Amino acid sequence: MTTRRYRPAARMAAIEPFHVMDLLARARKLEAAGQDIVHMEIGEPDFPTPDTAIKAAHIALDRGKTTYTPATGLPALREEISAFYSRQYAVDIDPARIVVTPGSSGALLLLMSALVNSGDKVLLADPGYPCNRHFVEQVNGVPVAVPVNGSTRFQLNAALVEAHWDTQTRAVVVASPSNPCGTCVSSDEMTSIHQVVVERGGDMIVDEIYQQLVYDAKPRSILQHTDDVFVVNSFSKYFCMTGWRLGWVVAPEAYVRDLDKLAQNLFLAASTPAQYAALAVLGDEALVGLEQQRDQFRQRRDYLLPALRDLGFDLLVEPEGAFYLYADCSKFTDDSMAFTLDLLRNAGVAITPGIDFGSHRASEHVRFAYTTDIDRLRQGVQRLSRYLDGLG
Ligand SMILES: Cc1ncc(COP(=O)(O)O)c(C=O)c1O
Repeated sequence: MTTRRYRPAARMAAIEPFHVMDLLARARKLEAAGQDIVHMEIGEPDFPTPDTAIKAAHIALDRGKTTYTPATGLPALREEISAFYSRQYAVDIDPARIVVTPGSSGALLLLMSALVNSGDKVLLADPGYPCNRHFVEQVNGVPVAVPVNGSTRFQLNAALVEAHWDTQTRAVVVASPSNPCGTCVSSDEMTSIHQVVVERGGDMIVDEIYQQLVYDAKPRSILQHTDDVFVVNSFSKYFCMTGWRLGWVVAPEAYVRDLDKLAQNLFLAASTPAQYAALAVLGDEALVGLEQQRDQFRQRRDYLLPALRDLGFDLLVEPEGAFYLYADCSKFTDDSMAFTLDLLRNAGVAITPGIDFGSHRASEHVRFAYTTDIDRLRQGVQRLSRYLDGLG
């Protein structure tokens, strides 16, 4: 009998799994054994996809809309997204600059493929969204983790970008609000970063997928200041369509043909029924409900943030958006992974260890997601309180 040789590509060594998936699997096991778990680890809305979108998808399927769309997306959807920019941000975006993708993950992969040569560096905030470094690795680029902390609201700023930029650097990724911290980059800082990048002949990718989930201010887009930028967005979070796998990128005109060619080759197109559903979700009917849900997320943040501070977690900055709180847990542990596992087992509360978001002080941080209703959050806080009392 011959044994099949296992020969993964070298880059596989740099691709890490989500530790939270492991935690989620353990949580499901405990639930199957009868234990009640308060889930504060899940990075997707607990609200269902708006009804109008589901109906639109049914209609599309009934009408046989099951074939490929153009690689850049349904023309009608690109136009609707353009109209969305004009309503939300008062900016005029040519639909031809919008490329519809399988999730914003698809958009990020397209951008790295289109921009980054082998060995090129891409600056990323640490802590930050972990997949970004893997997208860079995927195209044999070099992710450069730039440590960020409370002094810059856990975000990159122009000074940090300038300090870390060298001749090999090709691009920077900024997410506002960010995952895991929920903090934003101000418009002024965003334009300063952009200036630094442009002066050095690089490119800036701005992830605005949580921009519709900013609670105390109007959503802002860097597209209000410049067209010379790549903006990714998604139907996953605000629009509650994680499983439909739909996002988009707004690109400078010169790059659209490249993204089109890449999309043709990498995906052919995004899901057709999902695109029809998305057409409906951008309309006023769905937006009313989505805005009410946004308000619920805000209420949850306003409950959970002081509650965690009262328990002794250190939250240096108040996040403006997304549905995450990134908390310093060093008062309780110097191993956040072990802490989250123990908390799950002994208190029935699931949260995400900092290690999922980078390496900078990761073992002293955990992420709470308020993607569960406020009563369950209260229950989670009570359990945490008992658990932490037991530690003392
Ligand atoms: C900051 C950020 N960007 C991108 C994504 C990818 O989302 P999707 O591919 O569902 O649009 C996520 C998902 O959690 C995220 O948190």
